[in-house]
This record gives sequence, structure tokens and C-alpha cells, in this order.
Amino acid sequence: MKIGIVGLGYVGLPLSLQFARSGVEVLGLDVDRRKVKALNSGQSYIKHIGGPEVREQVKAGRFKATDDFRQVRSLDAVIIAVPTPLNKNREPDISYILKTGEAVAPHLRKGALVVLESTTYPGTTDEDLRRVLEAGSGMKAGDGFHLAFSPEREDPGNPDSKVATIPKVVGGLTPACLEKASVLYGLAIRTIVPVSSCRAAEATKLLENIFRGVNIALVNELKVVYDAMGIDVWEVIEAAKTKPFGFMPFYPGPGLGGHCIPIDPFYLTWKAREYGQSTKFIELAGEVNTGMPRHVIRRLMDALNSRRQALRGSRVLVLGLAYKPNVDDDRESPSYTLMDLLAAQGARVAYYDPYVPVIRPTREHPHWAGLKSVPWTRTSVSRFDAVLIATAHDDVRYADLAKWSKLIVDTRNAMARVRCDPRKVWKA
Ligand SMILES: NC(=O)c1ccc[n+]([C@@H]2O[C@H](COP(=O)([O-])OP(=O)(O)OC[C@H]3O[C@@H](n4cnc5c(N)ncnc54)[C@H](O)[C@@H]3O)[C@@H](O)[C@H]2O)c1
Repeated sequence: MKIGIVGLGYVGLPLSLQFARSGVEVLGLDVDRRKVKALNSGQSYIKHIGGPEVREQVKAGRFKATDDFRQVRSLDAVIIAVPTPLNKNREPDISYILKTGEAVAPHLRKGALVVLESTTYPGTTDEDLRRVLEAGSGMKAGDGFHLAFSPEREDPGNPDSKVATIPKVVGGLTPACLEKASVLYGLAIRTIVPVSSCRAAEATKLLENIFRGVNIALVNELKVVYDAMGIDVWEVIEAAKTKPFGFMPFYPGPGLGGHCIPIDPFYLTWKAREYGQSTKFIELAGEVNTGMPRHVIRRLMDALNSRRQALRGSRVLVLGLAYKPNVDDDRESPSYTLMDLLAAQGARVAYYDPYVPVIRPTREHPHWAGLKSVPWTRTSVSRFDAVLIATAHDDVRYADLAKWSKLIVDTRNAMARVRCDPRKVWKA
């Protein structure tokens, strides 16, 4: 069996390696030549995936990368894991999926299986992707080729989360498509969860991410309400979490980040309109979560104000640029929004992140490209009027921060781990 995985990013690369480790021959396809070159020479560009893991599979001849889509004709199955962002008007942009479909279709072999993994609205696989695949291949889905959807469940930075042990939801266009896709994933993944259609599988992924978005909004709202009452929401969550049933902890923060939670729910919002439906929970959660960076900046202003300082002209160090702890992924990170808001108020902004030594060019925040993380030394950290903890990486020495900094605005309750003068710390 030889399979292709299109899109060798945070989802496609670990999945490729898992199939390769299970003995399946994998051809990785990506339009980014630098990634193709790096992988073929045994290097990884994702922090939590080691170069040796890639090298092992390349050497064994089980994994190879290419940008040549003509090689699709040698494949029994093609899995697609390309980006699904929102456009400027916050509408779904499925152009990467469609482009991939167009590139794959002319080379698709009769009887081959195509599985979409990118998170998207229900109907993408059996309407949009199906249309381009049928047009380009001259074959009918469910007849000439098989078609399925299977959402990725990746938890970057979580060492206990392994592709092989995370149950895989699969939905097919026809029972035969489902059967083919289940057999494929069964080669590399322990538990397969079949559902009745591609749409049910697409909707499952959206439910999972909407669930997170809404619950994070709930604790963010409670954080503000409880703070006004003099109650620490972190203490309350710790206590509530001792309940052995019916409660699951979610934690507040400076706003949503990452490729999934800030984006995916709006894929459903957009599609729901076609059916005359509104998604009030999603909209409300979005409103609360996007209001968080401003709330944090207001807290920082209050903190500085209590020391007769203005934000304008103050030196502020943003700690943590990645959107979650212990990873180097800064996509959609609220740290950028915080930095923009700080700069707009006239603050002098710098950042520290051991995972992001220098800011790469991004579409949304090109003006920060090239800025380097400050060094973690007493001289460098003590120069700042305030440190704003946006992401609490585990290997930051918070005890140093307690000693070196003048004022800390903590959105992650990170300073609870160390002894620190409580007058210095403002939770936000
Ligand atoms: N990162 C996560 O934790 C996560 C978790 C679950 C689901 N997802 C979903 O998986 C999908 C992929 O996300 P990701 O984080 O891996 O993205 P990514 O940006 O890390 O990787 C996507 C890759 O696709 C490549 N690519 C773009 N257009 C292409 C094309 N036309 N042909 C071939 N390659 C192309 C890019 O060069 C890149 O290497 C998205 O829909 C995302 O929502 C991501």
C-alpha cells in the first residue's frame, strides 16, 4: 500500500510519520519546496517533531516528500491536510482544499481513496471537493474513486498525545468509501470511530472546537465578573475541578489563539446562514473572547496607574508569543494583538519566548517580523516597567521573574507557582 499526504504541516507531518512507522509507504506532498527539501534531508521544521524521527523513516525508504503531483498516479490513497483559514471578512477560505483537489484529480488512479482532514464546514467534502475531483478526474465519486472525511485531533505540545492512540472519526460518501477509509486508518491508528456520512464527521470536529471556544469564553467572562467581586477565578476553578462528575476545567486567558479555536466555529456560522439558522453561542463566545486582549490592557493600565505611571512611554515585556505553552506555534496568537494594542497606546514593546527566538513574517502581523526575543537575564528583564505574561511556557524561570521584575500582569496564573511579592502581581 502506498499513500500520499498533502500538506506537511502540524497535522500532515506527524500523520505521515505515524503511517510510515506502521510500515505504510508514504509520499508527502507540499507546495512549499523548502519543506520538501528539509524533510528529504531528514530535518524537521516543527519543534516537537524530532529530526531523527524524520531521518529514520526517510532512511528506511518509507517516507519521501515531493512537490510533484504527477506522482499521485502511484498512490492507493491521498489524505489532504491543508490550511482552512478565514478570509479578511472572516468567511471560510477553502481555496487550499480546492487547489489541492485540482492538483490531485488529473492523476487520480481508478479505485483510489481521497480523504479530507482539514477542519471545515459540513458539505465541503461531498459538495466542494467532490466537484473538483470529479471534474478533474472524469470519474464519479463513490464509483470511480472513493471519498471520505476524517478530522484530525492533534494536541501539539502534549507529550501524552500520540497520533496512534487518539481515536479517529471517519465518515464516507458511501458505505464502501467508509470501509476503505476505516481500513486505511486502521493500519496506523488503534481506534476507528465510523459515522454515517462525511457531513457527520465534519460536524463532529466543529462540535469539539466550538465546545472549547464556548467554555473558554464562559471562564473568561467569569474571570471579569468574579474579579469585580474580589474572587479569584483560578482558585474557584481548582476547587470546582475536584467534582468527580459533570465538570471539566477550562482556563481563562488573554484571548484565543492557534489555527483552530478562533477560526473553526465561524465555518459553521457561515454555513448555518445558508439554512436560515443562527449560531448565537458561537457569536457570543467570539465576542467575549475577542474582548479579552483589551481587558488585559486595561488591567495593565490600572496596574501602572497604581504606581503613578502611564502606559504611554512605559517599557512592557510580553512573555510568551506562542499561542499555547511549550510549542513554537504563534499562529493567531493573542500575544500579537496585545503587542499591537500596547504599541497603539505608545508603550515600548518587547517580547521573550524561548520557543520563538525571532518573529517570522506573518500575513496578519507583518510589522513585527524580525523582532528578536530579549535575553533572559536580570539586566534585560529588570529594564521593563511591566511584564505581561501571555503564555506560560513551563521552562520559563518564574522565580527569576519574581526577583527581577517591577510589575507583573499575569493572564495565566503562572506566578502562583513561585513565591512572589503579591503587590507586584496583577491577575488579568
Ligand atoms: N494544527 C493543529 O493542531 C490542528 C488540529 C486539528 C485540525 N487542524 C486542521 O488541519 C488542517 C491543516 O492544519 P495545519 O496546522 O497542519 O496547517 P499547516 O499550515 O501547519 O500545514 C499546511 C501545509 O499545507 C501546505 N499547503 C498549502 N497549500 C497547499 C497545496 N495547495 N498543496 C499542497 N500543500 C499545500 C503548506 O505549505 C503547509 O506545509 C487545517 O484545516 C486545520 O484547521 C489543525
